[in-house]
Amino acid sequence: MNRSELARIAQAMVARGKGILAADESTGTIAKRFNAIRLDSTEEHRRAYRELLFTAPGAAESISGVILYDETIRQKTADGTPFPQYLTQQGIVPGIKVDRGAKPLAGFPGDTITEGLDGLRERLIEYHKLGARFAKWRAVIDIAAGVPSAFAIEANAHALARYAALCQENDIVPIVEPEVLMDGAHSIERCEEVTDATLGSVFQHLQAHRIHLEGMVLKPNMVISGKKASEHASPEAVAAATVRCLKRHVPPAVPGIAFLSGGQSPEEATLHLSLINRAGPLPWAVTFSYGRALQETALQAWGGRSTEFKAGQQEFARRARLNGLASTGRYSPEMEKAA
Ligand code: 13P
Repeated sequence: MNRSELARIAQAMVARGKGILAADESTGTIAKRFNAIRLDSTEEHRRAYRELLFTAPGAAESISGVILYDETIRQKTADGTPFPQYLTQQGIVPGIKVDRGAKPLAGFPGDTITEGLDGLRERLIEYHKLGARFAKWRAVIDIAAGVPSAFAIEANAHALARYAALCQENDIVPIVEPEVLMDGAHSIERCEEVTDATLGSVFQHLQAHRIHLEGMVLKPNMVISGKKASEHASPEAVAAATVRCLKRHVPPAVPGIAFLSGGQSPEEATLHLSLINRAGPLPWAVTFSYGRALQETALQAWGGRSTEFKAGQQEFARRARLNGLASTGRYSPEMEKAA
């Protein structure tokens, strides 16, 4: 493990005014996204869409890193440059999703456990050769009646820490992603309670597994009302609860926190990030690692039409720029109209 190299990469991933693009949708998930624009999910369509995002003029000013999928890290731009190499040339750090998805946790109905530890060391060695300098593992914690169990939180935290240790052993910065889902009908208070328990357990296990905190990035959910809740907490309340929760659990040695968007609309996700960054001095860089909230409007603008390739790129660069501003608290909703 090269500690100074890990710290250098982690800092680059959360460089001021920049954040991470999550473009690591599995083949199944990207098919769902393409379905919304009535586009077949062929390998060439997936490649062309990722090229649209990665080569969007101006986007590199606000994007520090891109999370790739196993298929994507092996693909190339139309002129034959491997994606990881192209991104590195733009000053963007290539990363790779390495978990194999959340599966039902046997014996605990409603809870899931993320799989993918077997053979992970060998896969990390290969991904490093392909150019990846960070990785991502997503634990999924749902909220429902009697869910999550304390045991599921513990099991997922343990797996996250084992993953993180293997990454650091191979000079790959782990993005540690414990996602408390916002899909339910729960209140913001319930989200705070579960996020508190989850982050508490995650940092206990990271410590126990001797993780070098300076060489990791945390990717948490925001503390937010469930999508199906009858009442939704204000953006100010989301920012206050999120900051309170993070301050309780994330040591200042961690260089950065990069949120997932989790089903928030693009504008909500940007506003929340900006308000969080205005909540006074924070001990970590706080930025985005959005999938849907960065891509949704670009995907619509493109619509799978080659004539709209540039329109899709412009929309992606616009969303990236607004989120870059939000990562230093300089975004306001009026910018949506002007931009
Ligand atoms: P969303 O921002 O769409 O939640 O995706 C981020 C991500 O990487 C989830 O694992």
